[in-house]
Amino acid sequence: MKLISGNSNRALAEAISSYLNVPLTQASVKRFADNEIFVEIMENVRGEDCFFIQSTSYPANDHLMELLIAIDALKRGSARRITAVIPYFGYARQDRKTGGRTPISAKLVADLITAAGADRVLTMDLHAGQIQGFFDIPVDNLTAAPVFAPHIQERFEGERLCIVSPDVGGVVRARHLAKRLGADLAIIDKRREKAGVSEVMHVIGEVDGKVCILVDDIVDSGGTLCNAASALIEHGAKQVHSYVVHGVLSGNAVEKVEKSPMESLVITDSICVREDVADSKSVIPLSVAPLFGEGVLRTAEERSISALFK
Ligand code: R5P
Repeated sequence: MKLISGNSNRALAEAISSYLNVPLTQASVKRFADNEIFVEIMENVRGEDCFFIQSTSYPANDHLMELLIAIDALKRGSARRITAVIPYFGYARQDRKTGGRTPISAKLVADLITAAGADRVLTMDLHAGQIQGFFDIPVDNLTAAPVFAPHIQERFEGERLCIVSPDVGGVVRARHLAKRLGADLAIIDKRREKAGVSEVMHVIGEVDGKVCILVDDIVDSGGTLCNAASALIEHGAKQVHSYVVHGVLSGNAVEKVEKSPMESLVITDSICVREDVADSKSVIPLSVAPLFGEGVLRTAEERSISALFK
């Protein structure tokens, strides 16, 4: 097996490498004067089972291009099998036409990865499970639930817990975690009653007096979570915490979270944890390296991955 890291999340790749006790294969990613990317794999990969680890996080276009070029380099180096390990799959939110003459970029990115020469994809908590169908190659979509559930259990033992989806689109993810924890479930339904009038937040479910855990796939600007946290407090929640898989945290999101009624935000390291994020007292990063390490190992040994989540 060969493990190769791109530049998007070297810390996670190193942690996966330690978990597996397999060193990272030397590779170099350079830029030409005009910013074109050049990738060179410095070791022989002929006949090898290769795993290229790269999140297509900010700057998404550069990281995506690096992934595509690295897959091409591995293919031309006669790798036996190439698995694109994409802990955070960017462009996933563009998974349907939102109006006339708009793209479905998630499908385009899936086609690009396949055309570059990937044989499989190993990813986590895709924005929508159906994105797996955008690929014509096998996709293993891990979930951070086995990392989040014991952390929640340990922190909030003895509390009346309610898992909350901040929008209707995230209900399946929230229900899955609630079931694992034997907790209640609530859903926030955002509705703009009239154009130009601010959104009304309807809380479906009983949250009064409970510790509410907002669960989502992505925290980007932080708006969704902060608004949901305020609505839950207005509806009598005792405390609000969030568990979100991918900490995109653009712009002043960290500051927004710190100033919100949310007491903590737990994220994973699917996206490299920036210094300002690591320094924040409100944000707690958890590692998914062991989860990805197991995913890689089971792929290499042709063993079940779904068994990891039973
Ligand atoms: C949307 O459907 C996603 O699941 C997230 O809720 C959304 O991307 C979060 O974005 P933001 O943090 O900018 O509100």
